[in-house]
Amino acid sequence: MLEVRNLKKSFGGRQILNGVDLTVEDGKILCIVGPSGAGKTTLLRCITGLESPDSGEFSIDGRSFNPQGTEANDRVIGVVFQDFKLFPNLSVMENITLAPTMVLKKDKTAATAEAKRLLDELGLGDKEDLYPYQLSGGQKQRVAIARALAMKPKILCYDEPTSALDPNLRKDVANIILGLKKDGMTQLIVTHDLDFAEDVADDILKVKPLDQQN
Ligand SMILES: Nc1ncnc2c1ncn2[C@@H]1O[C@H](COP(=O)(O)OP(=O)(O)O)[C@@H](O)[C@H]1O
Ligand SMILES: [Mg+2]
Repeated sequence: MLEVRNLKKSFGGRQILNGVDLTVEDGKILCIVGPSGAGKTTLLRCITGLESPDSGEFSIDGRSFNPQGTEANDRVIGVVFQDFKLFPNLSVMENITLAPTMVLKKDKTAATAEAKRLLDELGLGDKEDLYPYQLSGGQKQRVAIARALAMKPKILCYDEPTSALDPNLRKDVANIILGLKKDGMTQLIVTHDLDFAEDVADDILKVKPLDQQN
């Protein structure tokens, strides 16, 4: 279970997050929904340690953690970025095995076997030698999901998982997310897409740009 309390962040004196509280229960899907500019990406970046919050407490399974601590970030919370951020110069297999071998010091054979399992599960069994530019948007996203899962995160976060995709792929992403839920994965999704959120979420948290709140 992930808990965030009183998360505040401003940029240049402009407050973007004004004391956000949220809880993602084990095995559940929390969607954070709001319009562009509401601070969704900023919230995700604070939780995943890519941005330093002005204040806030974070805990996983009741134990507090620092998202920017070297251990907490990479190993516990996985992220699938809006634009996927695959390494363009690495093959699909190398994209997935890089962090497990470099960060977790996992044996290369074991990391490769695990990557193959993930690729098969995500319907990409024949893509391991391709490079990101040879993949469609939906395939890149699945590689990004496999890459995050290879680190065995406790929680998987997504930034706008439907925004870079054809509308007809929304159902596929929803199925992947619901499939991971069946396997017990805890997931946090930020999206502007309320219909998508309603399809997958156990809970929905709505956020608004602060200058539109009263
Ligand atoms: N690094 C930054 N420096 C200054 N302003 C930023 C930065 N990142 C985000 N913002 C501002 O914070 C607000 C929220 O942005 P963002 O979190 O990307 O919203 P969302 O993902 O909901 O569209 C926007 O007004 C944006 O311009
Ligand atoms: Mg955003």
